[in-house]
Amino acid sequence: MKIQKHSILLQVVVMSLLLSMLFPAGVAAQRPLKFTVKANEVKTAVSPNMWGIFFEDINLSADGGIYAELVKNRSFEFSAPLMGWSIPKEVAANGQVLVINRQLTNAANPRFARVTVPDIRNFALVNEGFRGMGIKAGERYNFSVYARQESATPVELTVALLDETGKAIGSTTITPAGNSWQRYKGSFTASATVSKGKLQVAFKGPGIVDIDMISLFPQHTWKERPNGLRADLVQLLADLHPGFLRFPGGCIVEGRELANRYQWKKTVGDVNEREVIMNRWNTEFAHRATPDYFQSFGLGFFEYFQLAEDIGASPLPILNCGMACQYNSGEVVAVNELAPYIQDALDLIAFANGDVNTTWGALRAKMGHPAPFNLEMMGVGNEQWGPQYVERYTIFAKAIKEKYPDIKLINSLGPGPDGDKFTFLNDTLRKLHADILDEHYYSSPDWFLKNASRYDAYDRKGPKIFAGEYAAHSKGVGNGDNKNTWQCALAEAAFMTGLERNTDVVVMASYAPLLAHVEGWQWTPDLIWFDNLRSYGTPNYYVQKMYANNKGSAVVPILKDNDVISGQDSVYASTVVDSATGELVMKLVNTSANSIPVELTVQGAKLATTGSLTTLRSNSLEGLNSLDQPMNISPVIQSIDIKGKTIRANIAPWSFYVIRSKMNK
Ligand code: AHR
Repeated sequence: MKIQKHSILLQVVVMSLLLSMLFPAGVAAQRPLKFTVKANEVKTAVSPNMWGIFFEDINLSADGGIYAELVKNRSFEFSAPLMGWSIPKEVAANGQVLVINRQLTNAANPRFARVTVPDIRNFALVNEGFRGMGIKAGERYNFSVYARQESATPVELTVALLDETGKAIGSTTITPAGNSWQRYKGSFTASATVSKGKLQVAFKGPGIVDIDMISLFPQHTWKERPNGLRADLVQLLADLHPGFLRFPGGCIVEGRELANRYQWKKTVGDVNEREVIMNRWNTEFAHRATPDYFQSFGLGFFEYFQLAEDIGASPLPILNCGMACQYNSGEVVAVNELAPYIQDALDLIAFANGDVNTTWGALRAKMGHPAPFNLEMMGVGNEQWGPQYVERYTIFAKAIKEKYPDIKLINSLGPGPDGDKFTFLNDTLRKLHADILDEHYYSSPDWFLKNASRYDAYDRKGPKIFAGEYAAHSKGVGNGDNKNTWQCALAEAAFMTGLERNTDVVVMASYAPLLAHVEGWQWTPDLIWFDNLRSYGTPNYYVQKMYANNKGSAVVPILKDNDVISGQDSVYASTVVDSATGELVMKLVNTSANSIPVELTVQGAKLATTGSLTTLRSNSLEGLNSLDQPMNISPVIQSIDIKGKTIRANIAPWSFYVIRSKMNK
């Protein structure tokens, strides 16, 4: 965040140099909108998990993204077993590579490569990484491989990072010993920064060697963990101070067919034994086909729980409920064969929370986390709909609640916020006294503005709402031209005033999707974009951040003519108090192209004489951030002086403000 400090004393109060000149003398002033804040009239406590994040392995979010592995197809399990690998033509005649399948003895990691080098000439395999490898000068890189010698003469491996011209920028040598599988490691420091590096493994014969799980990680990962995560991306998530982490999706939970649904048990334990499957986003959109998109599950459920803990978020896993994606196969498991799915849910609770003497608790401890992960909620199904969902959910809920009555269950309300599918589930699940209903809305900026008051009249006694996936799409959902424009972010900011005002009903909310590789995306817009070396938060990211970092503890009314402020005169507003800091926290959004004078009168509290003003705005609704201009639209913080109980200001066109002020007793 950029921080500016100003101290501007005006007659009553002062705000933003950026935006206001208060009713200059001689100019016919527009009549100010009069708002009242009732600082001592608590409407509801702010839900502690309110502003969270939604993680799905889409857009190369996991493999090729936050999961810091640099080698693509490290264990030859992609449909084309050598995808991502090539043999330099200068050495192609010097050896052969054969992919061998040992399915019967290693079902989770069946394939390995046998490299035969008939004489002393070098043979080599080169891995292209995920759209290249991002390498940083001076950083250390850890290489590892499972290998065994198949010949009496051992084959020597020279591992080198190559820059874009093919020049080595770091290397190490390994000579595997013996004819049983062992893991070998080596590390080196890179001498140059490149965004499209490659990894070459050269084989010096004569001899035959078997190789598998060829891996290269930067030593510097988030918390310097081996098998770790990209530190810059996790930092962006941590900076949001998210209330929860929803994982692993999204449609990826469902699978195109049940056979490729997300199965958490296959994602824990030894990384070498996690079964690779094709990512469902590989083939989903013809216009963004991504044939090299697979799931290694190096980022698996243990790592998700650990990530949630690291960034202070409550874990929120979503599990398959015996239904594949209804946009794809729509396949459902026979009801009398639902037991293994339910067992997965029960075992997941044991994995997260169980004592270390239980089977699943012991695995968690073995993976390095004896303490429980404090799982309190779980989603049953992603975007399911229809009576078949209700039938399966009911069986799930009964089994889970019987064993773990305190676990809160999140239910699908289908893919959209209205229509037949929504209405059927909304009516049915309310009658079934569901805990939390998951509403999804990808829609136009205008929809978001109109729906800022969506929850003002929602049923207060029924299930809570989880706004589990949302984003404004200015070009229509599924359109590859969608961008993270300021128009979309501003509409979300306006809409979120309605979520905040109604946090007694809407207890959690998350923008979706979270991450996207600039060269490997399938879905746009997304909250955070990255390439192999850099990353940036979109304007939408900063909207999320301003809400999450100004969450407060209780909602108090901000009113105009005794009514909530939700679009009258293009202004949207919500207000919370923060009991930890003793502050009043006001959020104001102006979605019009005009500057709007407002007069905010605070009742029930005496404001301190200083406060802070955070501004997020752009002169253009088409404004964007980018890898080259990551902070183009980003929060600017100023200090402000306050006098009395009325704040007068002009709120700038297309702007989002957060004002914080101490309340004196
Ligand atoms: O966020 C992208 C996709 O949108 C999710 O996978 C799915 O749940 C929704 O349709």
